[in-house]
This record gives sequence, structure tokens and C-alpha cells, in this order.
Amino acid sequence: MTGIDDLPVRDELRGKTPYGAPQLDVPVRLNTNENPYPLPEPLVERIAERVREAARGLNRYPDRDAVELRTELAAYLTKTGGHSVATENVWAANGSNEVIQQLLQTFGGPGRSAIGFEPSYSMHGLIARGTGTHWISGPRNEDFTIDLAAAEQAIAESRPDVVFITSPNNPTGNAVPPETVLALYEAAQAAKPSMVVVDEAYIEFSHGRSLLPLLEGRPNLVVSRTMSKAFGAAGLRLGYLAADPAVVDAVQLVRLPYHLSAVTQATALAALEHTDTLLGYVEQLKTERDRLVTELRALGCEVTESDANFVQFGRFADSHEAWRKILDRGVLVRDNGVPGWLRVSAGTPKENDAFLDAVRELLGSAGDDPASPKEQNA
Ligand SMILES: Cc1ncc(COP(=O)(O)O)c(C=O)c1O
Repeated sequence: MTGIDDLPVRDELRGKTPYGAPQLDVPVRLNTNENPYPLPEPLVERIAERVREAARGLNRYPDRDAVELRTELAAYLTKTGGHSVATENVWAANGSNEVIQQLLQTFGGPGRSAIGFEPSYSMHGLIARGTGTHWISGPRNEDFTIDLAAAEQAIAESRPDVVFITSPNNPTGNAVPPETVLALYEAAQAAKPSMVVVDEAYIEFSHGRSLLPLLEGRPNLVVSRTMSKAFGAAGLRLGYLAADPAVVDAVQLVRLPYHLSAVTQATALAALEHTDTLLGYVEQLKTERDRLVTELRALGCEVTESDANFVQFGRFADSHEAWRKILDRGVLVRDNGVPGWLRVSAGTPKENDAFLDAVRELLGSAGDDPASPKEQNA
């Protein structure tokens, strides 16, 4: 049987595995940081109306520049981000993964490099690989904060073309203070200069504020966002960025013509009409996220401070074994490969109860079980 490696694929893809969070059919799925609440019925109706309208024009290509959508996204950012953003500052694509891909196609590529501080969102490295950009894994402290001195040194030595800062970070959950972002921006400009991409996929869940105001006077800074999390629309595939208008012009050099379908644009516009309701769900999820932190700690787990819609917990002597045992109890969480740690997305109160019961049982039945967190803490 022919395998991938029998094909003349690019050398850097040989022996690699694709991104693949398990999509298992279990009662409680808390593994991909989705929003557990389905879209409210009035929004579903509004999407149907908007899409019906769009369908009448599907014989034509969509608005290539998605101007109406970018205008509404700019209004949302201005209202919630503490910084005035205009249509020409915003670009949208099919999920923030595509935004990141377009950024790496524009500013990375063969002969260029990108750095991220790991553990962090694995797709930054995978998209770098896919665009032929050399990936550099930068350091973090034991507590998963960015080790500023080590990060500055890594930037000075490797002189990357693109620097990724994920805030709040996935899978650890912690936000990055603005002073750290500013210091890394300065280090990146001194070394190259290079583009600094702040991935704010989870910012709506943060206790703190967006880093959007840092865009002022910094043309090499980009903030990327998504409607997959706070807007509860992971299935829509809509990500966007805010940056200097020159960045928006630059990514248009690599975007496919008409990349954002008329149906996508219509659906996203409908969702933006319901921002207030959707942000109401975000408040509920923040409360549940904080409850998960408190209750996991009460159970004896270590928990990383979370500004996101998920929580990193541990520490397990064998985290994969703990993952499997939680799955045996009908709850799917995520093993991101961070030794000793697992990640759980905040679900509905009922789903979170089921998760906490599973962890309680796991720990209660642990004895000298290698999955017990106490063993490693001792
Ligand atoms: C940090 C981070 N950035 C970006 C994404 C991708 O989001 P999207 O669904 O917009 O492609 C994710 C998804 O989990 C993420 O965790």
C-alpha cells in the first residue's frame, strides 16, 4: 500500500503527523476549548435570513475584501478592546489559523524563521512548517510564564522574522502582561526587525484587558482574534486580525482571491448583531472556569492560573494514564503532551460537574495509582 513517504512530499513533511485533537463520541467533550452553548435561537433565525439573502447572489463571487464584515469587526474591537480600530486595520479569514497562515506566508517562508514560547498553541509551529518557515521553540519558566530574559536572549540570538505571543496562552491558560509584550517587541525590532503576532484567541475570557492599545505606533505588531471561542462559532471558521493598514495590504499579497465565502460573511455578520447575548455566555463560562480552578485545587490538583475558557491541571505522574481514566468515565479532556498536565475546557455546569466527579473518582480510587497527582507533588 502506498504511504505518504512513498510520495515525493517535501522533506520537512516526511514522518510528521497532522494536527489531530481526538473527535470521540463521548457524553462530555471538554477537549477543544469550544463554547458549550449552542447559538441562541433568534441568532439561528437571523443567520438563516442573512444566508438566504446571500444565497440569491451566489452566482457571483463574494466581496473579495469583506468590507462590511471588517467594518463590523472593527466596531466590535473598538467597543470592547479599549482601542479605536478602523476597517482598514482589520483583516478576516477562515479561522484565525488561516490568519496565521497568511501572516507566515507574508512574513515567514523559506529561508525565514518564527519563534514561539512553548508549551503554546501547537498550530503556530505546524503552520510555520507548512509554509516552509523554520520553527524555533523558545523557553518558558517552570510556572509557564514567559522567562523574559531567556526570551529576549533567544530573539537576539536567532533573529526570527516572526515572534508569536499567545495571550491568554494555550494550553496553560495564563495571560501575558503588556510589559512583557512590549519588551519582546523591542527585542524583536532590535534583532531584525520582525513581526510580533499576539494571538488573543481567548481574550474575551480574561480577567485583564486586550493588548490592542499596544498597536498604536507599532506597525510591526499584529493582534489576532477568532469567533470560534467567545462567539461560540467554531463551526463558522472566522478569524481576524487588527494591525497597521500596511499589514492588511501585505497579507492581501498571499490571500486566495475570494477566500471568504459569501455564506461565511453573512453568518459572521449575523453573529456580530448578537454580540451582547453571546458575551453574556462568556460571563457564565468565566464563572464556571473559576469554579473549576477552585474545585480542582480543593481536590488536591495543581492548577495554572487561567484567563481563558479552559484550565490546565495536574500534576500527574502519568498524565496520559490519567487522561485515559477520565475518558473511561465518559469525559474527554486534552492531553497536550505537557508532561504531568492535562487541560479541560469549561463546559456547562452539568458537564463540569461530570468532569469534577470523574477527577474525584480517579483520585479517590488512586491509591498508589501512577495517575495520582499527590504522588508527584510529594
Ligand atoms: C491560541 C489559539 N489560536 C488560534 C486558534 C485557532 O482558532 P480558529 O478556530 O479561529 O482557527 C486556537 C484554537 O484552539 C487557539 O487555541
